[in-house]
Amino acid sequence: MSELWNKLFSDAAVKQKASPIREIMSVIRQPGMISFAGGMPDPEIFPVKEFYDSAEIIKREGKDILQYGNTDGYAPLKEFLSEWTQERMGRKVSSREMLITSGSIQVADLLTFSTIDKGDYIVTESPTFLGTTLDMYNHGARFICIPCDHQGMLVDLIPEKVEKARAKGKKVKYIYTIPNFQNPVGCTLSMERRKKLLQVAEELELAILEDDPYGYIRFDGEDLPPLFSMDNKGIVVFGGSFSKILAPGTRVGWCFGDPDIIRKMTVFKQGVDTSTSVISQALVYEYCRKGYLDALLPKIIDHYRKKRDVMETAFRKYLPQGEVEYNAPEGGFFYWMKTAGIPTDELFNKSIEKKVAFVKGEPFFPEGGGDHEFRMCYTFASFEMIDEGVKRLGEAMRELL
Ligand SMILES: Cc1ncc(COP(=O)(O)O)c(C=O)c1O
Repeated sequence: MSELWNKLFSDAAVKQKASPIREIMSVIRQPGMISFAGGMPDPEIFPVKEFYDSAEIIKREGKDILQYGNTDGYAPLKEFLSEWTQERMGRKVSSREMLITSGSIQVADLLTFSTIDKGDYIVTESPTFLGTTLDMYNHGARFICIPCDHQGMLVDLIPEKVEKARAKGKKVKYIYTIPNFQNPVGCTLSMERRKKLLQVAEELELAILEDDPYGYIRFDGEDLPPLFSMDNKGIVVFGGSFSKILAPGTRVGWCFGDPDIIRKMTVFKQGVDTSTSVISQALVYEYCRKGYLDALLPKIIDHYRKKRDVMETAFRKYLPQGEVEYNAPEGGFFYWMKTAGIPTDELFNKSIEKKVAFVKGEPFFPEGGGDHEFRMCYTFASFEMIDEGVKRLGEAMRELL
């Protein structure tokens, strides 16, 4: 049978890449393993009672929400999002500029569907979130990689790289950025670079995908405006998500953008999944309508700030000083670690022996690199496990030095 399938696979299926995070799930789930790997919220903070309470919408609206829904999303949720995001976006985003998606990963998928022909290029931060770039790659996209420092993407490098690719006949379509508490680096794009990025994109006739699942989870410093709110040319598609601020099991995300691109993405979505689960959207809507989301956000911020601080204290206590570099993120889920003296592959194997897991750096670099870097997520493990896990990591490092 497998002979037959081998003959039938598409080019894309033959070349497809799977997510290393998903692939190591079975390792991470081993008994006794402490995981800093997946970018998962703390289940202890899931609002189980409040979400259950929101299920009363099934009694009230069941005949509607158990039916097929509109591809563009459940209208009351769209109206809620328009109001709820008004302050950050500087205006009420209209229904025509909005699409509810199955997680924000689908925003990248549908935008790529709508813009990328096989071999076209996307400009991206490097390192960047491998979940979205793997999906883009599986669509046939290739990448122009721009490094980051603590103020985010080095935007000034974009024009020369894009012009070079264009001179070779390559088509470059959009810039992919995670402006707040970037995954995996944790950096935030400065105000000056936000302005510059918009200017560069406009001059080069590129769109921007602003992927922002962490923007609401800021511990320190001042909020910066979304690129979408600063864009008056309609070139930015903003992707948002309930995954990190409510629960990823809802699989509800959204995007804002010019009605023309939203329409194209909506038509692709018709074929992909008809619509995001209506029942899930309705539960999320009811939860938000009751004010539970606004009540939970400050608790999430406070809880994850404490976890970040516990992880950093453990770094100072247990990791061999001078051997590892990291910067405290101002929000989000991740520390990015650099260990000049220890190859990450070796550290990963040694750490797994000691039952502590992280994600190796390499898959976050679309063009290769990252063999002395890795990502640590502080939100999922309990306070005690963070301390114990970093202790084990420190032991693994010492044994390899
Ligand atoms: C930067 C980034 N974009 C998108 C996603 C996907 O999130 P969702 O659960 O909304 O699909 C994640 C999840 O970790 C992420 O870190």
